[in-house]
Amino acid sequence: MNDAITSARTRPAAGDNSARAFDVERIRADFPILRQRVHGQPLVYLDSAASAQKPRPVIEAMDRVYESAYANVHRGVHYMSQVATDAFEAGREKVARFLNAASSDEIVFTRNATEAFNLMASSFTRAFLKPGDEVLISALEHHANIVPWQLAREQFGIVLKVAPIDDDGNFLLDEFEARLGARTRLVSLTHVSNALGTIVPVAEVVRRAHARDIPVLVDGCQATPHMAVDVRALDVDFYVFTGHKVYGPTGVGVLYGRRELLAEMPPYQGGGEMIASVSYEKTTFKAPPHRFEAGTPPIAEVVGLGAAIDYVSDIGLEHIAAHEAGLRAYAEERLSAVPGLHIVGRARDKAGIISFVMDNAHPHDIGTIIDRAGVAVRTGHHCAEPLMHRLGLTATARASLGLYNTRGDIDALARALHAVAEIFG
Ligand code: ALA
Repeated sequence: MNDAITSARTRPAAGDNSARAFDVERIRADFPILRQRVHGQPLVYLDSAASAQKPRPVIEAMDRVYESAYANVHRGVHYMSQVATDAFEAGREKVARFLNAASSDEIVFTRNATEAFNLMASSFTRAFLKPGDEVLISALEHHANIVPWQLAREQFGIVLKVAPIDDDGNFLLDEFEARLGARTRLVSLTHVSNALGTIVPVAEVVRRAHARDIPVLVDGCQATPHMAVDVRALDVDFYVFTGHKVYGPTGVGVLYGRRELLAEMPPYQGGGEMIASVSYEKTTFKAPPHRFEAGTPPIAEVVGLGAAIDYVSDIGLEHIAAHEAGLRAYAEERLSAVPGLHIVGRARDKAGIISFVMDNAHPHDIGTIIDRAGVAVRTGHHCAEPLMHRLGLTATARASLGLYNTRGDIDALARALHAVAEIFG
């Protein structure tokens, strides 16, 4: 392993990830972009659910790959290729530890979370589903966990079912269980709703699905940046997340899959890197995870993801979760005082996502106006149109928290929203 890749940043000694280490100003200093001004105002970045900003260790780790340790991986006998391969596979080990997977062979790299779902909808379906078999999703899903199954429905004749939520955005366990039937072959649902922040009780979902021998795929895109995830404690069969929401780069996603299930699944894409041997008559494939990684993988991105995992792990996911929980409570209190503002999504268990609408103001107007004050939120349907329809909405504004946000950010948001209320009130 090339030390230049892993240790240029001095990492805290083990045991140093105490509350003392959660110094938000020190953390902010690691994120160069947070020093930017927008329209003459300090950037208040409240759009981490769409994509999180990157700390210097991630940026530097990727620079170091290109400056001193870059070549294609798994292909060369030469020194640089071996250094790059070691760094790439070290990234896989880090992801395995991050999720507490039993083995790094259970970690498949994809382009993003969406590709991981497409892989599942193709390979899992071909391996385990017959026409008429069912996949059960939830009403909280974003499009990445809906559309691939619709494509599989067209191609393979499977049936897509949806477990409901209540008006506050709570996942309804008994309603979910009532939809598990003799033809259900997979449950595929989110861990944390990107639009409402609802935390789904995944361990209980898995318990009820496994009682009927139904495997469970979980979308962890909005969970991994905010809470410790242990795939073995949750007992999930598949778990998906993406690099760019967990303070890593774009261009890399992860599919965790239980080894014995991945072993049964056919390739998703064909090409170099995933084959054992090729002739015109017959091609044989490598074992997972390489079977699912056709072509040159995202090399520097995997190293960057490894650096991001080191970064959040050194701080401690439990400290990040506590910081964001405090900020969310503060934000909900401040926003509730804005005239005509209504928070959308009041689930009992929520992560740091606050969706809202305002009387007389379209979410896009809200977003555009508060942008002038330097405040970045996402507006629209949040790639979750069916969920918006379920709530009788077409769009919301959404403030989403990251580990670098402060009460000052929330105050700036609240001030900007009071100004919106005055304009539209
Ligand atoms: N799913 C991402 C979001 O929630 C893009 O904004």
